[in-house]
Amino acid sequence: MSTQKRIWLTGASSGIGQSIAEQLAIEGHLIAVSARREDPLQQLADRFPGQILVLPVDMTDADAVRQVGVRIENAWGALDWAILNAGTCEYVDIAEFESAMFQRVMQANVQGTVQCIEAALPLLRKGTQPRLVGVGSSVTFCPLPRAAAYGASKAAIRYLFQSLELDLAQWNIGVTLVSPGFVETPLTAGNDFPMPMQVNSDDAAAIIIKGIEKGKREVSFPGPFITVLKLMGSLPNRLRFALTKGMARPASNKEAS
Ligand SMILES: NC(=O)c1ccc[n+]([C@@H]2O[C@H](COP(=O)([O-])OP(=O)(O)OC[C@H]3O[C@@H](n4cnc5c(N)ncnc54)[C@H](OP(=O)(O)O)[C@@H]3O)[C@@H](O)[C@H]2O)c1
Repeated sequence: MSTQKRIWLTGASSGIGQSIAEQLAIEGHLIAVSARREDPLQQLADRFPGQILVLPVDMTDADAVRQVGVRIENAWGALDWAILNAGTCEYVDIAEFESAMFQRVMQANVQGTVQCIEAALPLLRKGTQPRLVGVGSSVTFCPLPRAAAYGASKAAIRYLFQSLELDLAQWNIGVTLVSPGFVETPLTAGNDFPMPMQVNSDDAAAIIIKGIEKGKREVSFPGPFITVLKLMGSLPNRLRFALTKGMARPASNKEAS
């Protein structure tokens, strides 16, 4: 086993986060697991007695997130890794463009993550080889239709973590930005479009953990999918537009009916 770490992991109740929690627990680490649903977190704790701290929270509630920080401080006094993986996804229906949907996605993915960073930073400053990990998305490499809210929130995550990396270097807090392609989880289960090169959540978790252990600045996968997206995103605008326009859906034209 690698040296036991004190880890806070958000979004541990399903999908990628649940797989990360399981694999870190098997490695023998101490993990504080957060998400809104307590049952799946408690089930994890029951499987790994003495290793899991169950800290359910809605990360959009700033005071509740601060309390999570206090409980971690009381339990361990410090954090070595904070893996801020929790997130949500909603797609834009262009005929029913709705600012409230943007608010929901931004509130969870951006403001929620920022609130977790606020709680984690004082603890990471007291950690051993501390590392702050954010989960963005490969969608930031190339703008895609219907992803205006989700993609914008993940572009914010990219900038947020890459900017913080510069400021946190003085405290020797490393930063890792994770940008997954399509991963088989409840988040993607309802997608009704092709998801090329999709990986399962256990494989995704293994790649992410290995990247964090190696102190990587950026973890994006699967490689061939990322290469194609980055290539498309770096094309001259007219070419990129021509290539991706076909993925848009015809508007339902409700205003005309
Ligand atoms: N799956 C993919 O293809 C893919 C691709 C790129 C990036 N990602 C990113 O990977 C991360 C994990 O996604 P996933 O695919 O594993 O999806 P998932 O299975 O839906 O997991 C999302 C996790 O976030 C938690 N969460 C959501 N809103 C929350 C809130 N307000 N407060 C606290 N916890 C909250 C959920 O728990 P509760 O519902 O219990 O609160 C759940 O544990 C997300 O940031 C997602 O954007 C996923």
